[in-house]
Amino acid sequence: MDVYKIALIPGDGVGPEVIDEGVKVLEKIAEMDGGFRFEFTRFPWGCEFYSETGKMMDEDGMEQLSEFDAIYLGAVGFPGVPDHISLWDLLLKIRKGFDQYINLRPIKLLNGAPCPLTEKPDIDMLVIRENSEGEYAGAGDWLFKDKPEEVVLQTGVFSRKGTERVIRYAYEEARAAGKTLTSISKGNALNYSMVFWDQVFEEVGKEYPDVKTASYLVDAASMFFVLDPTRFEIVVTSNLFGDILTDLGAALTGGLGLAAGANINPEKSYPSMFEPIHGSAPDIAGKELANPLAALWSASQMLDFFGQEDWGKRLLNTIEDLMVENKVLTPDMKGQATTKEVGDQVVEMLTAKV
Ligand code: NAI
Ligand code: MG
Repeated sequence: MDVYKIALIPGDGVGPEVIDEGVKVLEKIAEMDGGFRFEFTRFPWGCEFYSETGKMMDEDGMEQLSEFDAIYLGAVGFPGVPDHISLWDLLLKIRKGFDQYINLRPIKLLNGAPCPLTEKPDIDMLVIRENSEGEYAGAGDWLFKDKPEEVVLQTGVFSRKGTERVIRYAYEEARAAGKTLTSISKGNALNYSMVFWDQVFEEVGKEYPDVKTASYLVDAASMFFVLDPTRFEIVVTSNLFGDILTDLGAALTGGLGLAAGANINPEKSYPSMFEPIHGSAPDIAGKELANPLAALWSASQMLDFFGQEDWGKRLLNTIEDLMVENKVLTPDMKGQATTKEVGDQVVEMLTAKV
């Protein structure tokens, strides 16, 4: 029997609430399949841990995590700990330390999902966001702090290796899926980094003459995300642009309660990490109001990653059925159910479908 060793980092706020539902659903799936099982290990890291120890994770946390096949993370960040500390010392530490340079964010309008656009378009894209460098490289300086001549520098870092590998990954995805590939950049204003990005996109593209491509400036792309999202299929973009565009995409396809993301190390030298893209939602934490569907969609991505695509698809279909039947949903989806009731309903629907 295959055993998938999963490190759980439920984190802060609604993180533990939604991860509990994900674990429940994954355990049910393994039980129904019978051919594999999950071995979960829970880590208490996050802002509460920080207030007790002064650290976001154990000193040897990365070493501990390296033993696992994957990481399933809830959310990190809570009032009382500065966001740049909680983000850099846990989430970004893992993404960078484990070279999870691909961030996969499906922007797909499932049947039954709320969409603010009046004519519900058939939105079905996969945004591949560069996840290791770019504008979030942490390079820069803060000079003459608090003096009149104060200067801050935040430098985007685009290495040839880092740029090529994400773009190549995107071409491979587009080729495998038989879909178009769109690069989103900003070469007119960012005259070094994005001119370079565009050049690499073209260079690598020579090896993929069968893949149809398009290239947009990020400002125009934001407009088309809203006005004509069906023109995008596979999208590749930088760290910052991808961060912003996928929240916009999430808003179009059901909101933050439904948006999932996978941080992938394609070489499998390190564990990959699966997480809902929302944060710890302090405004609703502890009230049983959090929508667990984003965490469940990330669990479906995890199943895909392990080669259990049938189950990944089945879980996603169940989420879709749940919304179509419009039965047991949390308040952000105009329902009245609690987090746990949604998880229980998903388990029930999965079981009923055998
Ligand atoms: P947020 O995503 O936590 O919340 C934004 C809004 O969406 C809130 O109104 C919240 O109630 C709602 N929301 C989020 N998840 C929901 C869910 N599952 N069900 C229903 N409603 C949901 O973003 P915010 O408020 O900007 O950040 C809160 C904290 O989370 C901060 O400390 C921030 O740094 C952190 N954060 C962490 C992320 C991560 O761990 N990946 C990502 C984004 C923010
Ligand atoms: Mg974000």
